[in-house]
Amino acid sequence: MPKVYVTRPIAEQALDMIRRQAEVTLWSDPDRPPPHAELVRGVRDADGLLCLLTDQVDAEVIAAGERLKVISTHAVGYDNIDVAAATARGIPVCNTPGVLTEATADLTWALIMAAARRVTEAERYLRAGKWKSWSPQLLLGLEVHRATLGIVGLGRIGQAVARRARGFDLRVLCTSASRKPEAEGELGAEFVDLETLLRESDIVSVHVPLTEATRGLIGAAELALMKPTALLINTARGPVIDQAALVQALQQGVIAGAGLDVYEVEPLPADDPLLALDNVVLLPHLGSATVATRTRMAVMAAENLIAGITGERPPYLVNPEVLA
Ligand code: GLV
Repeated sequence: MPKVYVTRPIAEQALDMIRRQAEVTLWSDPDRPPPHAELVRGVRDADGLLCLLTDQVDAEVIAAGERLKVISTHAVGYDNIDVAAATARGIPVCNTPGVLTEATADLTWALIMAAARRVTEAERYLRAGKWKSWSPQLLLGLEVHRATLGIVGLGRIGQAVARRARGFDLRVLCTSASRKPEAEGELGAEFVDLETLLRESDIVSVHVPLTEATRGLIGAAELALMKPTALLINTARGPVIDQAALVQALQQGVIAGAGLDVYEVEPLPADDPLLALDNVVLLPHLGSATVATRTRMAVMAAENLIAGITGERPPYLVNPEVLA
């Protein structure tokens, strides 16, 4: 039987599928990834690797996996994997696109609403016993309906976020590496350059993958273009935003607030300055975290893995050129 290394407990249904086809070594700590050295050890005699976004599948891991026939990540983003190194070895890399689009768009809206109406700040206020009376000036926020939403990256998730904007009667601006006339038309999204989007939006939401081109895409100069009343939302990848610049912008009132699900360093360090700010809603990377979506992601990752170790073409390939 082929051997596979799975770097965390995933949905049982998916593990059962894999166990029918392979001998599974499972890193069983539900809360922490295997240390890098353990990952290197784990892939040494593995035919397949099922990893998470928390695993650095770098050139060292890929070199150690001499028998690897597939790397299957339980995520849509694959910036944690050295795809070039895998491709050079002819190893297919697979991800889980599509199945998490709607859940991630839902969570993006949770952050938009929470940041605009100061939901988590208000709850902290109430729980701290500070609520004296209904008050005309208490915890006033930003109106979401009829505001202008700027979508940075009109891929699957960006489009799903824009679709939800209809119900709130928002004006939608978008910018993207490539034009998508059909989606733009369907969503009533106006394509503009990043500068115009930042200047005109009340809410800016980031939906680009992390690549060398998008690292630090929103820095101090970009934040300075935003309205002082505007909010910045990130459910994509932390390093797309210069986090130190964002902290400064939030402290100095350059923008009004933010809603973040992702960070430059995850987990967010206990002494991170973001934790001291009231005008930011902070979630622990939960974009796809629903029972149904995480089950679909696990099954999809298992299907990719099983195809790879049994010599079939995995359904969702990041580097299809390896099988050309
Ligand atoms: C989550 O961040 C993912 O890439 O699936």
